[in-house]
Amino acid sequence: MPTDTLLRIEDLVVAFDGFRVLDDLSLTLARGELRFLIGPNGAGKTTLMDVISGKIRADSGKVMFDLSHPEDAVSRPTQVDIEGEIRFEGHELTRMREDQIVKAGIGRKFQTPSVFGSLTCFNNVEVAAGFRDRVLGFFLPLGRARKEQVMSALERVGLEGRRDVPASALSHGERQWLEIAMLLVQDPKLLLLDEPVAGMTTRERERTGELLHALEGSHSIVVTEHDMDFVRQFSRTVTVLHMGRVLAEGRVEAIQSDPRVQEVYTGRHKTPAGAPA
Ligand SMILES: Nc1ncnc2c1ncn2[C@@H]1O[C@H](COP(=O)(O)OP(=O)(O)OP(=O)(O)O)[C@@H](O)[C@H]1O
Ligand SMILES: [Mg+2]
Repeated sequence: MPTDTLLRIEDLVVAFDGFRVLDDLSLTLARGELRFLIGPNGAGKTTLMDVISGKIRADSGKVMFDLSHPEDAVSRPTQVDIEGEIRFEGHELTRMREDQIVKAGIGRKFQTPSVFGSLTCFNNVEVAAGFRDRVLGFFLPLGRARKEQVMSALERVGLEGRRDVPASALSHGERQWLEIAMLLVQDPKLLLLDEPVAGMTTRERERTGELLHALEGSHSIVVTEHDMDFVRQFSRTVTVLHMGRVLAEGRVEAIQSDPRVQEVYTGRHKTPAGAPA
């Protein structure tokens, strides 16, 4: 795997009741890359995130995730296979558990927020940091270092001024950012964000797009989104999924003018911007 590749997915298959939701899907993501994942409803975007994060098992295929650290590359494995439940001549290979995947450096945000409404923003992020420490076997005292980690995560998402506000009092957009802060404090190499701007105001969407741009480089990010205005404004490389396969990949302008992409959106309520409605 080239050193700038963080994630390589090969021939991934997930079937529900015999129907292939992911169908020999292959995808490569560079270290620090911001990737937009689009596609019609049911294309398999969430399922792909489910497999990467270990929530569901693949029937076959591989998800390879690079663990190498430049400073200690010698002492650590450079690569780990997160394999699906692969049936091979009757043998079933083991796969990584969700907590092992978090430990490997993958943070995942679901479509529905999962914050503790009664806790403050600060405390929510603190709980997330504690989770990471338990997973990694760290037992940091809840001292200054921890506070700085938590505040730094809140600052990155622009919620430092809301640190003492209960999560239940946040706007919808702020709750999404809080969840991102809860991932950031776990210091992931890869962030999986499933429709983070759904339901946000225009201003919140803009701030989220700016946040994605601020995070790229230091993190690899996969983000799904239906709103093509948002994709057009903030995407770099876009991958279009359709029926569990990669239909097209490239800059948004090329994607929008791709007849195959226009075809799969034709007759649907969501058209990629620029494509004939
Ligand atoms: N647990 C499940 N059991 C059976 N079928 C499922 C399950 N989860 C997802 N599916 C099916 O898999 C397909 C892909 O679903 P998925 O949620 O990955 O699509 P998506 O691209 O995220 O769609 P959306 O844009 O609507 O979020 C759909 O046909 C869905 O009905
Ligand atoms: Mg989805």
